[in-house]
Amino acid sequence: MAVRKIIRMGHPHLRRVAEPVPEAFIKSAELAVLLDDMVDTLHDYGGIGLAAPQINENMRLAIIEIPGGESRYGEIDAMPLTAFINPVVTVNNPALNGYWEGCLSVPGLRGFVERPQDVTVSYTSTEGTSEQLNLTGFWATVFQHEFDHLDGHLYIDRMQDSTRLVFEEEFTRYWTDP
Ligand code: NI
Repeated sequence: MAVRKIIRMGHPHLRRVAEPVPEAFIKSAELAVLLDDMVDTLHDYGGIGLAAPQINENMRLAIIEIPGGESRYGEIDAMPLTAFINPVVTVNNPALNGYWEGCLSVPGLRGFVERPQDVTVSYTSTEGTSEQLNLTGFWATVFQHEFDHLDGHLYIDRMQDSTRLVFEEEFTRYWTDP
């Protein structure tokens, strides 16, 4: 178990399309160690999601853990720590809604991003089983943000209005209700 370094915007490896996780690797000890490292790293940096490319691993793999309750995103439902292997997102309804997003690879900034709010995610679990989840609202945004990393995209690529890319301090001062 180890906290790994998160690579930041500007590192070319954040911009590549990650390789699928081979079936033979899914229940391996190596993958278990990598997932442990990802969990340690997510908890140490304090985020709700982490994709393998963010720790410079060229793999279609991400973890998500949403604590739930009152947050800077408003009142949200909790989602227990889950690993997603080779996930695929299907949009069920193209209607958009926006949230202020942040990213451990783009530290210190927040950006307002509009994304579809009704998606289905198909993925392989750490047990090797095929799974599907229907996600709406904030959860749909989180999953799209994380899985975008597997295709070399950052949230700033998805922004429609660059005047809503702001530093965290200014976000707190000017863009949140007191
Ligand atoms: Ni991110």
